[in-house]
Amino acid sequence: MKIKEAANQLHTTPRTIRFYEEKGLIQPEKGENEYRYYNETHLWRLQAILALREIGMSTSQIKEALENGNEIETYLNVQRSALYEQWLQMKDMITTVDDMLEKQKEHNLAAEDLFKLSKQLKELKQIRNDWEDKWNFDNQAHDYDENIKTTGYRFNVHEHYHEALVKVESFISPMPDEIGVDIGTGTGNLASLFLEKDVEMIGVDQSEEMLKVCKEKHPEIDVRHGHFLALPLMDGQADFIVTSYALHHIPDTQKLLALKEMDRVIGKNGRIAIADLMFEDEYDRNAKLAKYEEDENHEALEAIHDEYYADRSLLLNWLKDNGYQVECVSFNPILYIVFAEKI
Ligand SMILES: C[S@@+](CC[C@H](N)C(=O)[O-])C[C@H]1O[C@@H](n2cnc3c(N)ncnc32)[C@H](O)[C@@H]1O
Repeated sequence: MKIKEAANQLHTTPRTIRFYEEKGLIQPEKGENEYRYYNETHLWRLQAILALREIGMSTSQIKEALENGNEIETYLNVQRSALYEQWLQMKDMITTVDDMLEKQKEHNLAAEDLFKLSKQLKELKQIRNDWEDKWNFDNQAHDYDENIKTTGYRFNVHEHYHEALVKVESFISPMPDEIGVDIGTGTGNLASLFLEKDVEMIGVDQSEEMLKVCKEKHPEIDVRHGHFLALPLMDGQADFIVTSYALHHIPDTQKLLALKEMDRVIGKNGRIAIADLMFEDEYDRNAKLAKYEEDENHEALEAIHDEYYADRSLLLNWLKDNGYQVECVSFNPILYIVFAEKI
């Protein structure tokens, strides 16, 4: 068919189709008089291009994705996570405008309130955008499962690793057909424990390579690109959230936002279980650091300074203040599980 007919069928314009041709995204056959002809395959490709443009992909990204069929899923995954991030930012903006309107209704909206509220919004946006993977988890993905088995010389963060993951599963005690989310799923070691219980598991991670390894090991896990502060899930979409050895990669201020984000995603009687490296509180942190200093345990000190082991009391306070019943167990002086159930 000719360009006009193809454009009509796809509810677009001949100009748009020509633009994609100029960008090298589509090569129609050229007949006599230089007319362009589009067959079924061209139409299918055009349809895909239009859909991918609609969700915000650039023409160069589309070209790359279409050239390498396997990459389409990766691109869509990244695109979905970017859209969720934008959606959450919009929600923050709406909440801020609502707050301003509320104050205005009470005739209380002063210029400094406007400034304060917009500053809060800016800070929130910055916190979401600031995080970067300084550990290069993409590089670690293929050796991760082997590496966690090796014991550290004087400070083994993976001591009791497997027991902790099993305990997380037993705290959650999942019911068949529930939807669970594992944040920072890595190679899927925790998420996979739930598959035997007929749970639908979603594994979220910021590292594409980790997600690839996870998918190869456990094709049943729905892997999603995303991060603690912008989960690629709708409000109330999950029954429970678990996470292991991941939360200590974000600073404490971000951890509270991460809890808020988990709270958004779980339903009314939702459960959260966090297995991670943490201190009981600031006092415990200082005491343990002093002891490692005294013992000249540089391995421990370096590991602790390189990451963000939680102040557990901050997590517990947030959870209690937000309607959760909380329980904790510890496996060793730095590995804890925090289990929280919304009541
Ligand atoms: C040490 S691995 C733990 C993997 C797995 N949960 C386990 O227990 O074996 C940390 C994982 O958390 C992910 N991660 C770190 N920070 C993250 C963030 N802000 N959002 C999402 N994932 C994150 C990393 O990409 C990595 O896959």
